[in-house]
Amino acid sequence: MQGIGTDFQELTSYTRRNVGGRSLDWSKKPPTFKRYEAPRIPLATPEIEGGMPVWKAMQRRRSHRDFSEDSISSETLSQLIWATQGVTAVAGDTLFRTAPSAGGLFPIETYLVINRVEKLESGLYHLFLPEWELEFLSPGNYGVPLAQAALDQGMMAQAAVDFVWTAVIPRSAWKYEQRAYRYIYLDAAHICQNLYLACEAFGLGCCAVGAFFDSEANQLIGVDGNEETVIYMAAIGKKQ
Ligand SMILES: Cc1cc2nc3c(=O)[nH]c(=O)nc-3n(C[C@H](O)[C@H](O)[C@H](O)COP(=O)(O)O)c2cc1C
Repeated sequence: MQGIGTDFQELTSYTRRNVGGRSLDWSKKPPTFKRYEAPRIPLATPEIEGGMPVWKAMQRRRSHRDFSEDSISSETLSQLIWATQGVTAVAGDTLFRTAPSAGGLFPIETYLVINRVEKLESGLYHLFLPEWELEFLSPGNYGVPLAQAALDQGMMAQAAVDFVWTAVIPRSAWKYEQRAYRYIYLDAAHICQNLYLACEAFGLGCCAVGAFFDSEANQLIGVDGNEETVIYMAAIGKKQ
């Protein structure tokens, strides 16, 4: 088998000869956070006591694609966001989170397409983690165009909320160069698994989505597809 994937795997391999010996240019380290000029909505304080045992959540986890028309509460949404990116330790400028990240570089940004969440207008939002708040980027029905961008997977429009994860490539490439792409995808997978388990703990349905028309998804979210690009999504709602 030969192709761009196998070439990538080979060209980004660490070997005993090519690893090490490089020093990082700290003056060129890209910013860790992206902040939009937009109305800000504080998130609820996370509840970290009680709830479903993690073993049970893992045992029950399944992908669900049929959602009811019910809304979810904004407190539940805050809790789901916390499961994906909640800050659990601080060291200098680094905010350590519920999900691990290669080199502690945290290249993944979280956008939300809110269709039916109590107290929140429908539209596109972005998580600004340092202040534990959402930035309201744009009102409107983003669920339908997101579903179209996701190869017409209707569940994205039916969901109460969709998570859309982008990667800010230079954040990771600054250290790992082209190998950064490996780590970026792994980072996103950790985040999504936490979301699956948190949804299960609330009895909510969740489905990961990796199938989408890249340029349509990037355009909808408003990222350039080069320095920042959509890499993964998930649809969430009450199970039907
Ligand atoms: C990287 C990745 C991408 C996926 N993309 C989609 C998708 O686009 N649409 C979909 O319906 N399910 C998607 N899934 C869900 C898988 O189909 C599902 O995890 C698999 O069938 C196993 O079922 P389970 O999650 O219920 O264990 C994706 C899962 C992963 C891990």
